Amino acid sequence: MKFLSVVGARPQFVKAAVLSRALRQRHTEVLVHTGQHYDDLMSEVFFRELALPAPDMNLGIGSGTHGEQTGRAIEGLETVMLKQQPDCVIVYGDTNSTLAGALAAAKLNIPVAHVEAGLRSYDRSMPEEINRVVTDHVSSYLFCPTANAVACLKKEGIEKGVYEVGDLMYDSVLATLQRVDAYAPEVLQRFGLKAGEYFLATIHRASNTDDPNVLRELFMALGRLKAPVFLPLHPRTREALHTEGVPIPLNVHLSEPTGYLDMLALEHNARAVLTDSGGLQREAYFLSVACVTLREETEWPETLAGGWNVLAGCDQARIVEAAERPRPSEPPRSAFGDGRAATKIVEILERDPPYR
Ligand code: UD1
Repeated sequence: MKFLSVVGARPQFVKAAVLSRALRQRHTEVLVHTGQHYDDLMSEVFFRELALPAPDMNLGIGSGTHGEQTGRAIEGLETVMLKQQPDCVIVYGDTNSTLAGALAAAKLNIPVAHVEAGLRSYDRSMPEEINRVVTDHVSSYLFCPTANAVACLKKEGIEKGVYEVGDLMYDSVLATLQRVDAYAPEVLQRFGLKAGEYFLATIHRASNTDDPNVLRELFMALGRLKAPVFLPLHPRTREALHTEGVPIPLNVHLSEPTGYLDMLALEHNARAVLTDSGGLQREAYFLSVACVTLREETEWPETLAGGWNVLAGCDQARIVEAAERPRPSEPPRSAFGDGRAATKIVEILERDPPYR
């Protein structure tokens, strides 16, 4: 079979690396990078570290408003799809590149396979929520990472083409953890950190970066923590901090975005992770590291079990309390599959015809 996979943003490179490896054992894959993320540290480093094949083409859509970014990607992807005539288009997650790939393919009557289907925050002010809902409703294969995602789709009347396969990010963590642990001491030394004695933070959601009061509140909370906070900066956040002149507390150490292996090493050795990223919430859970989610809701409610993840919004007192809580005693439950999501996805694509 011939597959066309669409990637464009950081977390998609991680998931595509796992699935691409499994797909290419028996099938042809055309890998298209929309160019939504374009800096070396936001894009190329992932291809190098994860041995993700170089994209067959890069559409270079870059940054812009949601309409500009999505529109440019749809136009570019449609042209490529018409030329390549794939049997199926694979899209990942919830970015503007995901939505563009799904819409372009669905309008050409090419079956869409959505990896990470069924996630919901039930907050339609999040651009990612719009992308998820629309993508799920035009997809033929809905590959859900969790049982909860399957249940969310059912509530919207989507029951056909739905498969619970597990989380590709879990596959990826299992496959790289040994390598990461061997390399962690060098990473900690490079960043001047001691295992278990620092917090790791990331902030990039529009709801946190685009409101200066929220951003200030978050940094004040980080400043109240009684240990160093290491914070690799997403370009969106760097720009917002600069524009708004947000003061950076002395215990907060800003860095460039890190690669995948550095990030996993930093997560695995942190006292706790504070984040608004969906990927980090799960990775912290897989690695048995406590997490504080800097949002009021999560698409990954499984991570809240046993107190491993706590929702703290942007409230200083709640964030500090959650970050300094004792480590949960029960080990995290396994709710994200068995590390074989990629194999299952390929088997389903080979076995089951698209239902529409
Ligand atoms: C996107 C996704 C989000 C995902 C995140 C992962 C959407 C709506 N959001 O958010 O779901 O969790 O990627 O990182 O698709 N920029 C650079 N260099 C880059 C990329 C971006 O400087 O390589 C800057 C630009 O100023 C841009 C801003 O970051 O305007 C935001 O980038 P964008 O791709 O629009 O969204 P993300 O915030 O990365």
